[in-house]
Formats: sequence, structure tokens, C-alpha cells
Amino acid sequence: MKEIYADHAATTYPRPAQVAEAMLGYLRDIGCSPGRGGYRRALDAARMVYDTRCLLADFFHVPQPEQIVFTPSVTYSLNLVTKGLLAAGDHVLISSMEHNAVIRPLTRLATERKIHVETLQCHSDGTLDPLQVQKALRSNTRLVILTHASNVTGTLLPVYEVGDILAHSDTLYCVDVAQTAGSDAVDFADLHCDYLAFTGHKGLLGPPGIGGLCLSQRAVDLTQPLIEGGTGSRSEDVHQPEFLPDKFESGTPNVPGIAGLAAGVRVLQQQGLPAIKEQKTKLTQAFLTGLAAIPTIIVYGTKEASTTTATISLNMDGVDNGDLSFMLEQTHGIMTRSGLHCAPLAHKTIGSFPTGTLRFSFGQQNTLADIEDILAGIREIVAER
Ligand SMILES: Cc1ncc(COP(=O)(O)O)c(C=O)c1O
Repeated sequence: MKEIYADHAATTYPRPAQVAEAMLGYLRDIGCSPGRGGYRRALDAARMVYDTRCLLADFFHVPQPEQIVFTPSVTYSLNLVTKGLLAAGDHVLISSMEHNAVIRPLTRLATERKIHVETLQCHSDGTLDPLQVQKALRSNTRLVILTHASNVTGTLLPVYEVGDILAHSDTLYCVDVAQTAGSDAVDFADLHCDYLAFTGHKGLLGPPGIGGLCLSQRAVDLTQPLIEGGTGSRSEDVHQPEFLPDKFESGTPNVPGIAGLAAGVRVLQQQGLPAIKEQKTKLTQAFLTGLAAIPTIIVYGTKEASTTTATISLNMDGVDNGDLSFMLEQTHGIMTRSGLHCAPLAHKTIGSFPTGTLRFSFGQQNTLADIEDILAGIREIVAER
């Protein structure tokens, strides 16, 4: 049976061959730790890590490569922002489409540090009016966190407009680009943000276990590291270095992950983001058009390919979405994700809590033939009921 992978919002698959080759290349040909020795292999590792920082700085339009720190995941990056910045009495604004990587650390901090978390209610298609952010700002609003796109409906949030509202204010601004990096324009400078949190294993085509955070100068000054330890620098000092990237990068890094991420980003640069976005939009549009003709299917989100990523959530009237996901794989080899997608507030927003939805998410590797096969599979299940 043909396999169709339609869970790119979870992780990218299959990865470009260059990603595995770069990881193997590091393990086989370099193999040593960066910044922890003066011999050739250690210098080669350090150069590769630095080159990847430069590559990402260019990719996200970050002024200095050191403003990018590597982390194990966007979850870690978001924990670094919230736990490293917030203190008692701070007011934080988030949208109702955020991932648990934002919601759960803030829930803990609300109890432990007495911060005030305010959730801005998005419309039932997941959209947010940027003026809602402006109206909710208070004198003690320390941080606004927004996802660039919902991982449930694909709905794009107005992160650039909010950036314009917050520019020159004392409120720090964090954008989670887990769902958009690698297909949509992600420009650190244009966003006027203080933190850009990204993950390597989705649209950036890299391996799991590597992500990062881009920080503005004031964010660097105001944020405490989540962990401290060896950096390979100033070993005589018992204090964590204050300079970048060492302030936030302790312990031997995931060097094979960094090598794989660099390879993924280079593939994206060859393909070109406009071409990737065009392909994903074409797939999304074809899927939405096909779904609109199936009466028992309820589609969530804006239902417009131009205002979403290539992620679509749906339910089939009278069928459990977990069963539907199972049936699609068993009978047609189609891989999807059902349930709540680590975003309970998003499901409350779109009206699918607590059962959730069935999520389809496409990558540039998918084809229009895949979309046709998925639609045929859905139609078959509908017809059998
Ligand atoms: C919007 C958003 N934020 C955060 C995450 C967490 O990503 P990771 O598991 O790579 O840390 C995800 C992943 O599903 C996501 O979609």
C-alpha cells in the first residue's frame, strides 16, 4: 500500500538525504566537541556550529549570529523565555491558540511566581484582531507571546502587526515560529520581537532534538539562563558568562543535530521559500476544495489557503476522530494526528474541545496526487457509513 505522510505539523518526514548525510558526516569525520579544545577536530566542530549560527542569522534576518542560541527544542526555548524573564506581579498576554509549550510553564509560574496570565480570545476560526493586544496592554505587561500559526487549524496570527504595536514599548515580545519557519516569511527584524523561538525538526527539515532562540539585546540582558554549566569559556570563573551565546548555552551541544539543521536550511534555500509556500498553498487549496464537496465533513479554521499554513483540522459527523485516523491509515496508508494536538485552548476556541479534531498537515514533499488519494479515502469512509 502507498504511504502518505500528512503529519508535517508534528515533524517533517521524509527528511532530505543531505540531513542524515550531514549528521553522519559530523559523527564520522569530525566527532569532537566544539569550543573545548585547540586541536583540529575541535576547531572544525566549532566552525561548523558557528557557520550554522551565521546561516540561521541570515535566514531569520537576525543582526548578529551570536543572538541565536541553540536549544534542544522550541519547548525549551519557550521555557527559557518565560522562566528566565518573568517575576512576581508581571502581566503576560497570550492568544487562545497557543501550544502547551507556552500554556503549561505559564500555569506553573502563575502559582509559583504570582504572575498574571491573560488569554486573548481568538475568533472561532483562530484569527486574532491585533487591536485586542493593544487594548489589553497594562503598565505591568512584561511579555506578549504569540504563535505565528496555530498547530491545530494552521490559522496565521497577525504577528507583524502586533510587532508594530509593541515596537518601542517596554513590553517584551516573543513569537513562536514552530509552525511557520521554512515556509512563511519569518523576519526577526521586521517582527520587532525580542524572542523568536524555533524548532529544527518541522519546516526547517532538520532532525529532532535541536531548536533555538533568537534574542534582542534587551532580552539578553533581562533573561536568566534556564541551566548553567560548562561553556568551554572562562573556566576559572564560577559564575555563568554573561556574553553570548555562552550565557544560554551550557553543556556539550547537540552537534549532529546542528549539522543536520544546517543541511535542512540549505535545502530550503535551494528550493526557495516562495516556491515552497506556493506548493503548500496549492495542496491546501485543493484539499479545502475537495472537502467542501463532502457534506458530512466539518472543517475548522479560516478555510482559506491564503490565511493558513498547510494544516487543516476536520471532523466527520458521527465518527470519532481517533477512529477516522486509524481507518485512514489501515485502509489507505494515510498518516494523520487526531485529538487535541497539545493545544487545548485552541480546541476550545474552535469548538472542538474535548474530543479534538483530525489534523492533516502537508509538506512540500506532498503532491496533488496525495491530496486526491486522501480525499478518495475520506469519501470511501463516508460512503461506507
Ligand atoms: C506552535 C508550537 N509550539 C511549540 C511546539 C513544540 O515543539 P517541540 O516539540 O519541537 O518543542 C509545537 C509542536 O508541535 C508547536 O506546533
